[in-house]
Amino acid sequence: MRIAIIGPGAVGGAFAGALHEAGHALEFATRTPFEALQVTTARGEVQAPARCLRDPSQAMPAPIALLATKAHQTAAAAPWLRALCGPATVLAVLQNGIEQRETVAPYVSAGVHVVPAVVDCPADRTAPGRIIARSRVRLLLPPGAASEQLVALFANTFANVSIAPDFAVAAWTKLLLNAAAGGISVLERRGNEVLRARAHAVHFLALGEEIVAVARAEGVLLDPALPQRLLAVLQKAENARISSIVADRLAGRPTEWRVRNQVIERLAARHGLPVPVNRALTAAIRASERSASA
Ligand SMILES: NC(=O)c1ccc[n+]([C@@H]2O[C@H](COP(=O)([O-])OP(=O)(O)OC[C@H]3O[C@@H](n4cnc5c(N)ncnc54)[C@H](OP(=O)(O)O)[C@@H]3O)[C@@H](O)[C@H]2O)c1
Repeated sequence: MRIAIIGPGAVGGAFAGALHEAGHALEFATRTPFEALQVTTARGEVQAPARCLRDPSQAMPAPIALLATKAHQTAAAAPWLRALCGPATVLAVLQNGIEQRETVAPYVSAGVHVVPAVVDCPADRTAPGRIIARSRVRLLLPPGAASEQLVALFANTFANVSIAPDFAVAAWTKLLLNAAAGGISVLERRGNEVLRARAHAVHFLALGEEIVAVARAEGVLLDPALPQRLLAVLQKAENARISSIVADRLAGRPTEWRVRNQVIERLAARHGLPVPVNRALTAAIRASERSASA
């Protein structure tokens, strides 16, 4: 199967390594081309020659495409999306957030099967084409025929791609983690161990309570006890790795605060729900991003 990877960074590169393992023909739509893909996983190393496309005007629609740029890079990748997604393409969006379908909608035609994904893949890119997958390489997809096609492509590879019957709950749970744990740790510029401090634990629970309320207003029945359960797990984690938002902040790159934090304020407003703690955190992240890039 011919598969296009738009944005082969840490996540796109890791899943591309699995697709290479399964024998698929990969094309990389890149901003920074590279000669070969090298993915290091807990199970060993995958090496693949890299066919990097240089120009969207020379690209042909592919039956399957993965979009794995950062969410705020989607608009800049639009020429690749338009060129590589034809009327029957299955486009998996491997990005954080809960609005992947809405994010790509302006750039793809109506027939494209857009499949949002919950990405669980702690990974780093050490150089263009060089990826270290730290532990899990896992995707959760919503039920449907296009998702089943994607699951089959990754069968018998190091990536675990499966269908989540209650995909919306999985996506909002990840959003809660990203918004609350990622939001607090990006201000501290550290890993999730910051949540062991009592003041941050209190903020995490307050953020979580607001997010559960917004999710429930959106029809996604998160358990009110979820923030407490997640906090207990995060506080116990040894050697907390910094999240991708903290890595971006430390490197002085723009971060995904809009899809991880601002989205909660926006959806809360739709239901007239007050989210003062999320609003304050979003404002602080936004202000710190401005000062970091000033
Ligand atoms: N990394 C993690 O541990 C992790 C875990 C879970 C979820 N996620 C989520 O997964 C998504 C991808 O994150 P990531 O960490 O893989 O990001 P990343 O390593 O920064 O990779 C993004 C890739 O997109 C490329 N790109 C940017 N603009 C482009 C354009 N206009 N055309 C073509 N390619 C373009 C970048 O190219 P350059 O080489 O030029 O920069 C880079 O290869 C994000 O939503 C992130 O939050 C990440």
